[in-house]
Amino acid sequence: MEYTPSAARYERMRYRRCGKSSLSLPAISLGLWQNFGSVDDYGSCAERIKRAFDLGVTHFDLANNYGPEPGSAEINFGRVLREYLRGYRDELIISSKAGHEIWPGPYGGNSSRKNLMASVDQSLRRTGLEYFDIFYSHRYDGVTPVEETMQALVDIVRQGKALYVGISKYPPREAALAYRLLSEAGVPCLVSQYRYSLFERGVEDETIGLAARSGSGLIAFSPLAQGMLTDKYLDGIPEGSRAARPTGFLQRAQVTAEKVEVARRLNSVALRRGQTLAQMSLAWLLKDERVTSVLIGASSVAQLEENLRALDSPAFSDEELKEIDSLLAPLRPAP
Ligand SMILES: NC(=O)c1ccc[n+]([C@@H]2O[C@H](COP(=O)([O-])OP(=O)(O)OC[C@H]3O[C@@H](n4cnc5c(N)ncnc54)[C@H](OP(=O)(O)O)[C@@H]3O)[C@@H](O)[C@H]2O)c1
Repeated sequence: MEYTPSAARYERMRYRRCGKSSLSLPAISLGLWQNFGSVDDYGSCAERIKRAFDLGVTHFDLANNYGPEPGSAEINFGRVLREYLRGYRDELIISSKAGHEIWPGPYGGNSSRKNLMASVDQSLRRTGLEYFDIFYSHRYDGVTPVEETMQALVDIVRQGKALYVGISKYPPREAALAYRLLSEAGVPCLVSQYRYSLFERGVEDETIGLAARSGSGLIAFSPLAQGMLTDKYLDGIPEGSRAARPTGFLQRAQVTAEKVEVARRLNSVALRRGQTLAQMSLAWLLKDERVTSVLIGASSVAQLEENLRALDSPAFSDEELKEIDSLLAPLRPAP
């Protein structure tokens, strides 16, 4: 049970100011969506969280529904905090979110005030925390007025249950309204979370610029396309991988021959640069200073260590960037 964090934990990580706020986040953060639930080995969960902290990862991202089973990632994280990180709360940025289905009935899976106010209390109980550093609206649900959801976030801060707020996956029109409402209420949006990777570049059209102009930081989630931007699937779908698991969010059918072929070619570029595909994929996102942090998942300490070495990446030359763009062309949606 004894754990003393590495004294060198702040030496290698880089920290980036989150939007216009003074809060810095590590360039690489760890998310607990998969691999930290009640179906996973608790000892391994604790090892990965401790190793991340040792490497300067100060930001851990949760949501009320993370598991499986839903809620269990928060329970496991709370246990790690109590057992190992009790004395380090002020060195940590812990986030959670509400808005996806978690309990049955009409109040358990939307962005209503009812859902958010109940969810934040449930998440605080599961983790044993007194407050979250960041609490997010997990999604725009298409029904709840943005005004209602943002007022709930503002009240969560006023009640002392979170220090900052964020939004996740909001379409640009709703995001712009959210930024304005939060700013007018004196609780500006700290950070916005969107899926962003070499394979998923939709946020480049409007979202990144909008967030930056509005003073919000930006977190890129699933930066490795759930593993497809690593060397994991280059020669088939290995047993135990996310795509092979029945409960996983990455279906076998999503690992298409076309994506694997592009990943193979990207892998050659990465090897030429003296790094792995995972490291190059993270470095490619971090070359944009508007990206505050890339939010990775990891099922082992080895993955975590490999990915954190993306911080030592050489800069991209113009030729390399052009080559990467051209390799991605087959995956670009038709205009
Ligand atoms: N706001 C939202 O709606 C939302 C949605 C999704 C995710 N997120 C956040 O983003 C976080 C990260 O998402 P993600 O887990 O999809 O991120 P990801 O980093 O794209 O994928 C992580 C998975 O890739 C594989 N992997 C990672 N490093 C590897 C390496 N070096 N070599 C081989 N395989 C490697 C592992 O798969 P295996 O398990 O197969 O080993 C790992 O579980 C989540 O935990 C969550 O916090 C937010």
